[in-house]
This record gives sequence, structure tokens and C-alpha cells, in this order.
Amino acid sequence: MIDTHCHLNDSKFADDFKQVVANFLSAGVDKAICVGWDYNSSVKAKELSATFPQVYYSIGVHPDECGEFDLKKIENLVKSALKEKNTKLVAIGEIGLDYFHNTENKDEQKRVFSLQIELAKKYHLPIIIHCRDAYGDTLEILKSHLPIDNGVVFHCFSGSLEYAEILVRLGFKISFTGTVTYKNATNVQNVAKNIPLDSIMFETDSPYLTPVPHRGERNEPKFVLDVAKFVANLRELDYDELIKITDKNAMKFFKLK
Ligand code: NI
Repeated sequence: MIDTHCHLNDSKFADDFKQVVANFLSAGVDKAICVGWDYNSSVKAKELSATFPQVYYSIGVHPDECGEFDLKKIENLVKSALKEKNTKLVAIGEIGLDYFHNTENKDEQKRVFSLQIELAKKYHLPIIIHCRDAYGDTLEILKSHLPIDNGVVFHCFSGSLEYAEILVRLGFKISFTGTVTYKNATNVQNVAKNIPLDSIMFETDSPYLTPVPHRGERNEPKFVLDVAKFVANLRELDYDELIKITDKNAMKFFKLK
């Protein structure tokens, strides 16, 4: 199984990331995508992916970090990664809008988001979206950049079923974290239960958002299995069948080999 979004590059993994990789491999998770949130974490993601054959990575600047965005620096990182034979750069992300953490810099967030959408288009990479309390503006900006041929995934989806259905109609993917397993997450559970299977991917967003029944522990990529198990139950589907489908979605979306 694939963890399509984790942060092995987070300082919470600094002391034992080798063990964390060993843990997920022995649990039956065979690939993980390490996602950048600013320049340094993207560089770190690249370094980690070079150390472990099972780790892929993305480059991007999260809306919370948009004040430090430097297009040239990020573009150079992308360019040099794509020059490598067998590059493990698989996406631009996580990028988007976050009005939960910050509403004073909306214009700056939108500008940095738009520039990175164009970057993804220029280099034919899929986009990993971070969207929190900004569903209207995020959709409006994405629509203004259509066509986006290499794919868009809404990571850690927390919106409504109606919104999810709009995304699905646009051909975008929706990815679920441990938040879908939380007791009060009936809204997200409703989305996970009802959207088409070929739109779904799973992730941990580790070290954050630990799924039930591991809450209180640090999250790790191995717990992506618990996210999938929960959704399999919700949909009354065979767990292995569900993973087969969502892995196929992820392999295709991120062009993994
Ligand atoms: Ni993340």
C-alpha cells in the first residue's frame, strides 16, 4: 500500500526516520511520498528520497509559508530534479490556501498558489492541494488555470460532499487522512463513503493526524493501513480490494513505477 502524503522530512522524525521507514515496510506499506511545505523541507524530502528506494517526494510552498516564497529558488530546485535520471520528484505540493491559520494575507496566498500551479503545468507535474477554510477561493483559482492536465489531488479533504462532487467532475482526486476515522468526522466520512472509488487516495500526513486506534501516538506512514481499513468498513468493501483500487489510483496519478 502507498502513503501518498507524509512528512518524513519533519523534525519529529529527525532521530529515527530509518526506523520509521523500516516500520512501514514491514507493515506492508511499500511506498511513501514525502511532501515539502517550504524550500528547506523540499530539499530535505529530496535527500530522504535519495536514501530510500521506496520514498518519493514533492516540492512546494504551503500557504502558511507563502511570505518566504521565492519562485526562482523553487523553480531551480524543480528543474535540477527533473534533469536527474530516474528522478523521484512526483508532484508540486503542498500548495493552496489556508484561511484557518491566516486571513490577513489572502492576496499573497493566492498569488503564491497561482504561481505554483503554473509551475506544475510548466513542468508537467501533478498538484497536491492544501485547502483549509478556503474552499471557494481554491476552486476559483484552480478553475482559472484549467486545463490542468497532470492532475490535482485535494489532500486531507475536509469539505462537503457537494464540493467533493464538483472536484470529482473536474477529474480531481480526493485524499483522506486519519481525520476520517475521528468520531466527530461524519461530514468527511460521508464523502469517503459516497465518492467514486477511482477518485480516492489515502495518506497519513504524518507526523500529524494519527488515526484511530493510535491517537496519542506520533503518526507514521505505517498507519495509512488504518485509514484504508476504516474506509473499507464504511463502504462495506473488502479491505484488500479497496487498497488495490486506491493504490492503482496513486500509481497512475503520481506516475510511480
Ligand atoms: Ni501535509
